[in-house]
Amino acid sequence: MPNLSQAKWWQDAVIYQVYPRSFRDSNGDGIGDIQGVIQSLPYLASLGVDAVWLSPFYKTPNKDGGYDVEDPRDVDPMFGTLGDAERLISAAHGLDLKVVFDVVPNHFSSEHKWFKEALRSAPGSKERSRFHFYDGKGVDGNVPPNNWNSLFNGPAWTRVIEQNGELGQWYLHLFDSSQPDLNWENPEVLEDFKTTLRFWLDRGVDGFRIDVAHGLAKEDIHIDHRNPDALIRALRVESSDLTKEERISLLTDIPFFDRDGVHEIYSEWRKVIDEYSGDRMFVAEAYIYPTSRLARYVRPGELHQVFNFDFLLIEWSASAIQEAITRVLSELEEAGAPPTWALDNHDSPRVVSRLKSEKKARALAMVAHALPGSLYIYQGEELGLPDGEIAPEFRQDPAFIRSAGKDLGRDGARVPLPWEADEKNFGFSTGTSWLPQDPSYKNYSIDLEEADHASFLNLYKTSLALRKKHLGLGGDSVLEWPDSPEGVVYFKRSGGFILLANTTAESLEVNIRFAATIILQSAEGASITGSIVRIPADTTLWLQQ
Ligand code: GLC
Repeated sequence: MPNLSQAKWWQDAVIYQVYPRSFRDSNGDGIGDIQGVIQSLPYLASLGVDAVWLSPFYKTPNKDGGYDVEDPRDVDPMFGTLGDAERLISAAHGLDLKVVFDVVPNHFSSEHKWFKEALRSAPGSKERSRFHFYDGKGVDGNVPPNNWNSLFNGPAWTRVIEQNGELGQWYLHLFDSSQPDLNWENPEVLEDFKTTLRFWLDRGVDGFRIDVAHGLAKEDIHIDHRNPDALIRALRVESSDLTKEERISLLTDIPFFDRDGVHEIYSEWRKVIDEYSGDRMFVAEAYIYPTSRLARYVRPGELHQVFNFDFLLIEWSASAIQEAITRVLSELEEAGAPPTWALDNHDSPRVVSRLKSEKKARALAMVAHALPGSLYIYQGEELGLPDGEIAPEFRQDPAFIRSAGKDLGRDGARVPLPWEADEKNFGFSTGTSWLPQDPSYKNYSIDLEEADHASFLNLYKTSLALRKKHLGLGGDSVLEWPDSPEGVVYFKRSGGFILLANTTAESLEVNIRFAATIILQSAEGASITGSIVRIPADTTLWLQQ
């Protein structure tokens, strides 16, 4: 990591992800909105985060929670107005919080004016060349141009009705049929995205999270996949019917992800962001295997950060945790980029539900908070929220709809936040919440957790404050790994900071061979006698030498 004088804010920032429709509703329509975020900024500042990232609030028919963008340079009325977005940026800046917006370049919504024009235009037209339109194969062209599947189930191609009323060409959509993939070989697409980036940069945003950043180049569109059904199962984390070797072999070669062409696109984007002062940044969502290829996205002249999803998937196991940390640090060191860590996001089961344990989730969070680089926190993670139980009739995720309910989808992690235990919808909205909240969410309400010194929320507040104090800007990224008993994560950072995590179900003793004091523990019950540290089961300790 660079020294203090060169450090950029994002290199060790804590960035809080807001999923706007589930955060806070200011106008009683049951859907969270930008005003709700503005009103809640003091809460975010009180957490000790450095920045807020908002998932999309752009004009959208909302078939995929706003990741189906109809106009990337306007705000959907459901979320507010362009003026609200501008006020959000200045209010956040007023509280010393940076602002990161989402940009969705793999696809537009089928309601975008370009796609409507494409449908009205003839095969081979310039309007169609902004997307991937192809004739079908087989008799009457009734077989899709290739055999790829949508990540949300079913084929990745939909056939259109031409102006003459007859079945015509097919268009590609890696996600829902309402999300046609853009053709990045068409220079108009790049120009349009440059305009969008400048539109928001001019309004003061400090960075962008790039959705499906690894998907833009479709160089191999004419290549069928050897096993498209298994590939989709491999992309799903919970695909239990595949062996590890089968998954790895499928994930290593995906014809629509991580093609070389994406890098030319990001070199162009980098030039745009570099026109602006003030350390603006890009972070890429790139779910790729092997993770060593992530470093290619953060080479000089490309993006600033790339998400690493290890902690979103990791087991509560000392060896797995040590392996992931050392691998990620060494892979990114090569590119000179700081790592990123995340336990949760709007696409994954919440960590408490995934690990089936609040105690383990608290302990894992304290490992993540102690690592070099930047940390992404998904709304509600700081409360220890579990996934919501949702009846099928309320589910909205296109992955649920396209699989006829076989894939439960991601709504469980999108249930609106509980703010005040005794209010309607626990203070989220005075109307009818777009997704029902579990009655159990009451116990996780922000007002209750604020008042309870042992709460998840207060653990997060304390750990983020200590992180800043002990591990702040300018800290190096070197971790030292002394020998430790099996089941214990043990590392040291410069400045005498020590982390010990006992991932076993028994309490354990570790002789650290010097005196230290405990500065934070994820659960009660730790003690030090001389140089012997006693760590309760499933507990992480931070010590200072
Ligand atoms: C990303 C988003 C996810 C969305 C998908 C398609 O993975 O995080 O929510 O469904 O892209 O845009």
